[in-house]
Amino acid sequence: MSDSQTSRAFGIDIGGTGIKGAPVDLEAGDFAAERVRIPTPQPATPEAIGDVVVELLGEFEGDDAAPGAPIGITVPGVVSHGVVRSAANIDESWLGTDADALFSNLTGRRVHAVNDADAAGLAEARYGAARGRGGLVIVTTLGTGIGSALLLDGVLVPNTELGHLEVEGHHAETWAANSARERKDLSMEEWAERLTVYYGTLERLFSPELIVVGGGISKRSDEFLPLIDIGTTIVPARLRNRAGVVGAAVYASERAG
Ligand code: BGC
Repeated sequence: MSDSQTSRAFGIDIGGTGIKGAPVDLEAGDFAAERVRIPTPQPATPEAIGDVVVELLGEFEGDDAAPGAPIGITVPGVVSHGVVRSAANIDESWLGTDADALFSNLTGRRVHAVNDADAAGLAEARYGAARGRGGLVIVTTLGTGIGSALLLDGVLVPNTELGHLEVEGHHAETWAANSARERKDLSMEEWAERLTVYYGTLERLFSPELIVVGGGISKRSDEFLPLIDIGTTIVPARLRNRAGVVGAAVYASERAG
């Protein structure tokens, strides 16, 4: 392995509409080559996603494929020892799938699957809004669902699933995710009231030092973050749409040691 490769890993982010991948420079916390995106197949079964992952890797040549380096892949569900254990927003056929084994066999590389929000949390902790922050940090992603990552002194406590908390009698992600804002056509003010209840609950339960808000809508954070009325410092994520790919690569490199 050449020096240029020792600080690389490959990250793949499985989203609802697109599967994105790139080699990641782990010193810079950024893509080492241009990202490739392929539309997510429907139905998004493990086998169909597997075919796309192989196709995606095939788009990279030489050092850009980060040969020899581990691959991290995000999954929007609980991932325990590589096995997918929940499927709130993904095809049910994922339940019980050993994603590490499936993708490792298909690609002939070491693959480590990680929850999507945990990947985003790692990316923010290493390179973004939570970089260098001690104590307890909660990173959330507001999208179709609500994802969460808990980091204690930069160490990930995986699979927290705080989007499934019950808040004021509501299932948090059904009531307060960005998809709920769109579905109910909520104004930013109305949505921020719900987010105040949600983040206020996290604050009471965990007393975090910092809350980071990611997901696609975080690029419009100016319109709703200042309206969230809680005591804890709450800031937008910095890696934006790079968080999944970068975080997956970080996870893989840390798992591989
Ligand atoms: C899933 C989480 C995921 C989040 C964001 C939730 O419905 O249960 O595992 O992190 O959506 O995709």
